[in-house]
Amino acid sequence: MESGLDIHTARALLEWQIELGVTEAIGDAPVDRYALPDTGPKSKKPTAKPATPVKSESLDAALVAQQAATSAGTLSDLRAAMEAFDLCELKRGARQLVFADGTPCSPVMIIGEAPGRGEDREGKPFVGRAGQLLDRMLAAIDLNRTKNVYITNVLPWRPPQNRDPKPEEIGMMGPFLERHVALAKPKVLVVMGNISCQAVLGKRGITRLRGQWNQAFDLPVLPMFHPAYLLRQPQMKKQAWADLLELKSWLRTDK
Ligand code: URA
Repeated sequence: MESGLDIHTARALLEWQIELGVTEAIGDAPVDRYALPDTGPKSKKPTAKPATPVKSESLDAALVAQQAATSAGTLSDLRAAMEAFDLCELKRGARQLVFADGTPCSPVMIIGEAPGRGEDREGKPFVGRAGQLLDRMLAAIDLNRTKNVYITNVLPWRPPQNRDPKPEEIGMMGPFLERHVALAKPKVLVVMGNISCQAVLGKRGITRLRGQWNQAFDLPVLPMFHPAYLLRQPQMKKQAWADLLELKSWLRTDK
């Protein structure tokens, strides 16, 4: 991020500004107020501006995203708000928004990384080889998109050449993801791979995190290896199986 802030600090600053009543981003360019010359004691005259201007374009975009996400009252409102959101560069290179698949209000919500080529073409998450593996993994514990699983991604647009999402893209789209979870009302989140762990938990290191319960958005969160990783490293399927059994046991004991 240009300002040198990490995403979580930036998000916290943003939420703080919204709490203070900031309703719009002012100024096209960021202003570094620490670099301005000292003009002596401040005038007592009240200023008309609502609060400190946001410091970077990413923060401006995240503020717009936050407002759009907050005002969505249903999943279809949220999809429309995301379709209308023009501040993420990825939108320009993608064919379409990939919003979600599966059954809203299912007990389990899976959060992947970002659409690939097939998802970009079909407009649905996890439709390629990784998605087929994901479906087989879920079926092994009696989970199915048509019945009891809802699936989305951290980012709704395909990154060019399937490159890793940038931190500012993850931060900017974070308010939509958070609102998506609130509106889909799962009982548990499964975050697949490092990007998803970073976006939801603010942590990376999937090898260490997988299979360990965490908490985010007021929900239990289980990190797992991404199915695309399991296709490249099939020997890790043993751990993935253990994590699926952990999820199954959690679902069985959940009241
Ligand atoms: N990988 C993901 O993380 N999401 C998709 O939708 C497809 C592949």
